[in-house]
Amino acid sequence: MSESLSTDRRAETRETPDRRQQGRDVFVEFRDVYKAYGSKKVLQGVDLKVYRGEVLVILGGSGSGKSVTLRHMLGLEAPDEGRILVEDEDITDLPEEELYRVRMKFGMLFQSGALFDSMTVFENIAFPLREHTEMTEEEIARAVREKLDLVSLPSSEQLMPVDLSGGMRKRVGLARSIVLDPKMILYDEPTTGLDPITSAKINEMIIDLQSKLNVTSVVVTHDIQSAFSVGDRIAFLNKGVFEWVGSVEQARNADHPIMREFFKASSVTAAQPTTA
Ligand SMILES: Nc1ncnc2c1ncn2[C@@H]1O[C@H](COP(=O)(O)OP(=O)(O)OP(=O)(O)O)[C@@H](O)[C@H]1O
Ligand SMILES: [Mg+2]
Repeated sequence: MSESLSTDRRAETRETPDRRQQGRDVFVEFRDVYKAYGSKKVLQGVDLKVYRGEVLVILGGSGSGKSVTLRHMLGLEAPDEGRILVEDEDITDLPEEELYRVRMKFGMLFQSGALFDSMTVFENIAFPLREHTEMTEEEIARAVREKLDLVSLPSSEQLMPVDLSGGMRKRVGLARSIVLDPKMILYDEPTTGLDPITSAKINEMIIDLQSKLNVTSVVVTHDIQSAFSVGDRIAFLNKGVFEWVGSVEQARNADHPIMREFFKASSVTAAQPTTA
């Protein structure tokens, strides 16, 4: 009985995604996807399913194709071969004007943060609303405030990006990526370059948003700690394919030599934190 009263937030917020996953409702699917840039073969027969409501972590070394995989989900890149489906719709050959509709399903936190440096925090977050909706100024202000509260950054509307710490920039980027209420959030390296305490806060926020916004998420990272703290499942990208896919619990004991090596190397890095 006492177990069901556990205050473990992670277990609490996961109950729903886990249940949904059992229904095997697929949000995004890659079927045998190939992509090369010139002679550089990046994706070499990728099969992947992202289930509705889950947090899937994509792990992989630098240059393994993690960001390329995310760009394919958004239809920002088309595969050389294979199919990509979003909510059962084959988006592989869709023309640009149709892809626009598909992209509205996604919020993307870019690797670089990608804020407009000449705009205030408020204007950065309001930008997608001005571009894609007919909302009034009052509605925009309300939506921006609501999103800033969600990422725990109230009262920062008038700050400029230059005034923000790395963690705050990520939060503002995240507020902007969820302002159009996406069904799925893609995070490209949300904790890279942040100190361990700030990273932990960002991880907590990812879990928090997952339950509050009822979304599906894909988190690209090489931060193992982050992978274990936010993920329901882990997919390990190596040599152009997902060589290992399984639950976070299974990943801890994964019998995959490169993955184990990867974990070992990462724990060495984690033992030498940078400035707090
Ligand atoms: N538009 C492009 N033109 C040419 N090569 C590209 C392009 N986009 C990606 N690549 C190459 O594809 C490979 C995978 O790139 P990608 O950005 O997906 O790596 P990644 O796994 O995200 O790495 P990192 O962890 O460093 O961000 C790299 O070798 C990269 O140079
Ligand atoms: Mg990348």
